[in-house]
Amino acid sequence: MKITLVAGARPNFMKIAPLIRTLEKERQSGVPIEYRLVHTGQHYDDKLSKIFFEQLNLPDPHVNLGAGSGTQAEQTARIMTLFEKDLGQHSSDLVVVVGDVNSTMACTIVAKKMLVKVAHVEGGIRSFDMTMPEEINRMVTDAIADYFFTTSRVANDNLRKAGIPDDRIFFTGNTMIDTLNANIDKTFAPAVWQELQLKPSQYLVLTLHRPSNVDDAAQFARVMKTIDDHAKMNVVFPVHPRTRKNLENLGSMKHVKPCEPLSYLEFIYLLKHAKGIMTDSGGVQEETTVLGVPCVTMRLSTERPETVTWGTNKIVGDQLDDLAKAMEEMQTGSWKKGTIPELWDGHAAERIVKQMIKLLQ
Ligand code: UD1
Repeated sequence: MKITLVAGARPNFMKIAPLIRTLEKERQSGVPIEYRLVHTGQHYDDKLSKIFFEQLNLPDPHVNLGAGSGTQAEQTARIMTLFEKDLGQHSSDLVVVVGDVNSTMACTIVAKKMLVKVAHVEGGIRSFDMTMPEEINRMVTDAIADYFFTTSRVANDNLRKAGIPDDRIFFTGNTMIDTLNANIDKTFAPAVWQELQLKPSQYLVLTLHRPSNVDDAAQFARVMKTIDDHAKMNVVFPVHPRTRKNLENLGSMKHVKPCEPLSYLEFIYLLKHAKGIMTDSGGVQEETTVLGVPCVTMRLSTERPETVTWGTNKIVGDQLDDLAKAMEEMQTGSWKKGTIPELWDGHAAERIVKQMIKLLQ
């Protein structure tokens, strides 16, 4: 049984790590299974890629396709061209893609056209916001993939509504949370902790990288001013490369303290001790729900509604008044207490790999 695992951008690495660990265990116990890890090179900075491989004990990829950055079409086309060649040279029974990044969609299309079956880990989630590149990636991937490993029952329903039969949908839980649980005791304070003399529950965290929040300089400036004006404590802001350019034009702020992108173990440390976080990330909504940390999502919708119904997440949309109000509630400590969604228990990868082996046999 030959499996090709695809990873390309930062959040993919956390999702793929427990799958590799579990596959390796099965292989060593005598199951005739081989895997090949393909890094598309969508993310290439050490701070967005290499450090995650080191900290999550991921083996070096068998190949890095070096696709790099570009417009949506340029990047997708490059990943497709390079992956087609690689898959042609290394036959595979199953291509496994995770999440919703351009690499996920690009490699799914390539594999299906080469008549290789595809499994989508984190299949079925939907924001119903077609202005997000990720939503298009999810819809295209799920329209043609063969097997779906889902993080919620809502995702199962979305797939059923799209006409996918039940015997191809497997509700297995959340591999991002497998990684969180496996690493929570290894987290450590980033340099910024000392620099700003941070204390538990006395600072906020901010992450922003969605095109809708950061690409338009005027909108980005308004968002940042709202946050700086309404913060009563330090706001630690690890800055994604996409966000850097427009941030540089803003000058220094009173409460918002930008820093370099953090490694996984440092970021989770910062998150678990924070009073709360403002974000537009998908993964952070899930991590804060499990850590029980208040989360404000600065988007119009979420493809992870269980983090709102069960968890600690609130969606504030693009109204700055709502953002300010949520920050006020967060800082006074009057936030809902969440619970952990079903099957977000640290054992998703075991369920996924068991099922994959069954399907391949
Ligand atoms: C991508 C994913 C997004 C995910 C995010 C996590 C898509 C459509 N988007 O967005 O879902 O949440 O990763 O970070 O796949 N850049 C660097 N170094 C790098 C990579 C990128 O400097 O290693 C800069 C480049 O200027 C590039 C820009 O960041 O143009 C955007 O990178 P890209 O991979 O296109 O998308 P992200 O915004 O990172």
